Amino acid sequence: MLLKDKVCVITGAASERGLGKAAARMMAEHGAFIVIMDLDAGAASAAAADITKSSFGIACDVTDPGACRQAAEDILERAGSIDVLVNNAGVSQPLKTMDISQDDYDRVLDVSLRGTFNMSQAVIPSMRSRRSGSIVCIASVSGQQGGGIFGGPHYCAAKAGVMGLARALAKELAPDGIRVNSIAPSWMDTGITDGLPEEALSKIIGSVPLGRGGRPEDVAGAVVFLASELSAYVTGTTIDVNGGSYMR
Ligand SMILES: NC(=O)c1ccc[n+]([C@@H]2O[C@H](COP(=O)([O-])OP(=O)(O)OC[C@H]3O[C@@H](n4cnc5c(N)ncnc54)[C@H](O)[C@@H]3O)[C@@H](O)[C@H]2O)c1
Repeated sequence: MLLKDKVCVITGAASERGLGKAAARMMAEHGAFIVIMDLDAGAASAAAADITKSSFGIACDVTDPGACRQAAEDILERAGSIDVLVNNAGVSQPLKTMDISQDDYDRVLDVSLRGTFNMSQAVIPSMRSRRSGSIVCIASVSGQQGGGIFGGPHYCAAKAGVMGLARALAKELAPDGIRVNSIAPSWMDTGITDGLPEEALSKIIGSVPLGRGGRPEDVAGAVVFLASELSAYVTGTTIDVNGGSYMR
């Protein structure tokens, strides 16, 4: 039990096949109390109930700082603490530079980057007061290698921003006992690319040294590691979960 009784909050985790729900499930298997956050309260509650009884779901749009602060307060009231935050909510758009409108840009940047900032700001005071906490940010290999999977340049910028933000938070918050790390997954079988032509998908998977596409559980394992004390001396890093498709 790597996360026994730890309160773990995961944003954007209601999606049935998504990385957030898989991470929540694996954290629950390691004894965590799970809080699922997503746009819709019903979907968040249903996902939480589907994973474990030691859980609840809560509606929160991570682009709204007031909603993030309120959600953190509600969680602290109901669960007593926030030990782990997984900034997972994100949206992607397969657009080329000249096709990206200001609204597209805002939407993609706001959910991934501003959302990561907002939720981190919302949980830092309580983590700081307990001098303990782990924040895990789900970035993407697209933010390292400049796309090539699915998201457009604005998505790459958002995810590169997430990794930079996480490193800066790690440096600032280390004296408070709070660790902050990122995970950079490559293509994962979550439905995010449903509708992508078979040929394009085969090309992505065919180039992976480990010879298969990623599964949500592959990312969940890295989340459990970064959330738990196994990674007590790890902060400011990015774990690449990409089957060897991008090595740096
Ligand atoms: N699936 C992949 O191949 C892949 C690869 C690299 C990185 N990622 C990243 O991993 C994360 C999860 O991806 P996924 O494939 O599971 O996506 P998904 O679409 O299955 O889930 C994303 C969830 O975020 C929620 N969401 C959207 N906007 C929100 C907001 N403003 N506030 C709160 N929740 C919001 C959605 O309702 C959804 O439940 C994302 O950040 C994504 O960019 C995914």
